[in-house]
Amino acid sequence: MQHAAIVVAAGAGERFGGGAPKQFRLLLGRPVLAWSVEALADAGTWPIIVVAPPGQEAQATAALSGAPAAEIVAGGATRTASVRAGLSRIGDANVVLVHDAARPGLRPDLVRKLAAEIEAGATAVAPALAVADALVRTGPGGAIVSGLDRNGAMAVQTPQAFDARVLIEAYEATGDGAAFDDELSLLRSRGVAGRVIAGDRRLMKLTYPEDMAVLERLLAEAHVTCVGAGFDAHRFGEGSYVTLCGVRIPHDKGLVGHSDADAGWHALVDAILGALGQADIGAHFPPSDPKWKDADSERFLRHAAALARAAGARIVHVDVTLICERPRVGPHREAMRARTAEVLGLGVEWVSVKATTTERMGFIGREEGLAAQAAATIARPV
Ligand code: CTP
Ligand code: MG
Repeated sequence: MQHAAIVVAAGAGERFGGGAPKQFRLLLGRPVLAWSVEALADAGTWPIIVVAPPGQEAQATAALSGAPAAEIVAGGATRTASVRAGLSRIGDANVVLVHDAARPGLRPDLVRKLAAEIEAGATAVAPALAVADALVRTGPGGAIVSGLDRNGAMAVQTPQAFDARVLIEAYEATGDGAAFDDELSLLRSRGVAGRVIAGDRRLMKLTYPEDMAVLERLLAEAHVTCVGAGFDAHRFGEGSYVTLCGVRIPHDKGLVGHSDADAGWHALVDAILGALGQADIGAHFPPSDPKWKDADSERFLRHAAALARAAGARIVHVDVTLICERPRVGPHREAMRARTAEVLGLGVEWVSVKATTTERMGFIGREEGLAAQAAATIARPV
């Protein structure tokens, strides 16, 4: 059973305004687009097709660095055209979910629930919330033209899940120029009613600039902030470079270790695991296992970030301190921050890399080895 997702992110975000389209802006330090792709991937959805504004595919790729793999295709002039572009790439999937990138508050649980409804025989299912306010239709100057019955009225969200075959056939039978608010409306125009299940307030769509602060508050409210600490040290040995925070620095010595001996990232992985309450790096990647011999520490860091996501947690900020007499860290600090930010899918302003010496005291002072310590601040759901 294969569940594909189309994440439409080809809009211009005119009502949101400002610089880059809203789907590429940062929400709590992570690009809006990345939130949905991560939730879909965590729910086992594959393939994930991201529909980007034509000519802005590179921005979509950049927004997804550090996020699970997604295929990026160019969208169209309307949301309907963008979904059509995505539909051509879903392959043999039997279930397809269509989701607005502008709704980043998606949870893997809801994705699984929607897909399960289709697996159980439903044709079209979407999350929806009851409307609390009275509804009216207005004309020019705010004049009320008519009242609408609120009784039974629901505000429909995304992802909208479908029997893939039915949605593909509906699109094939719909003219290229036709535009609908969403896929449920398109199917309704063809006599397929669909149904709704309980929606989620956190799935609100970012439409106006003030929505960002509202959603940040909604997403932050059910979390508690945890701080994890990590430490690691490696001995110097033969070699011509050291790798610290993912950056290779030429040196007259190398670092001895089972993996690539990147003490900075090892300390950081332990800090993340610590904040999650999930043991330490040795428990996840035993040095006794030959699989991890000479391993690139990027794998360890990506794994720690994936564990955080799987726990519904969000890495807010990380801070690494490298402790060595030599090599000099300063010239490589910004590259280390950028690499770390990229792997964790964070904005670089949420990543700190610092360095210090021990004033020539102890094993570090004698240049027998170097050490690193790290702190990770993580918002965990309660
Ligand atoms: N969308 C799309 N292709 C379009 C138009 C919209 O993929 N031609 C996507 C948007 O990127 C968004 C979702 O459809 O994720 C919902 O649309 P909306 O909130 O209206 O976003 P925008 O069209 O970007 O915003 P605006 O209407 O204010 O310009
Ligand atoms: Mg729009």
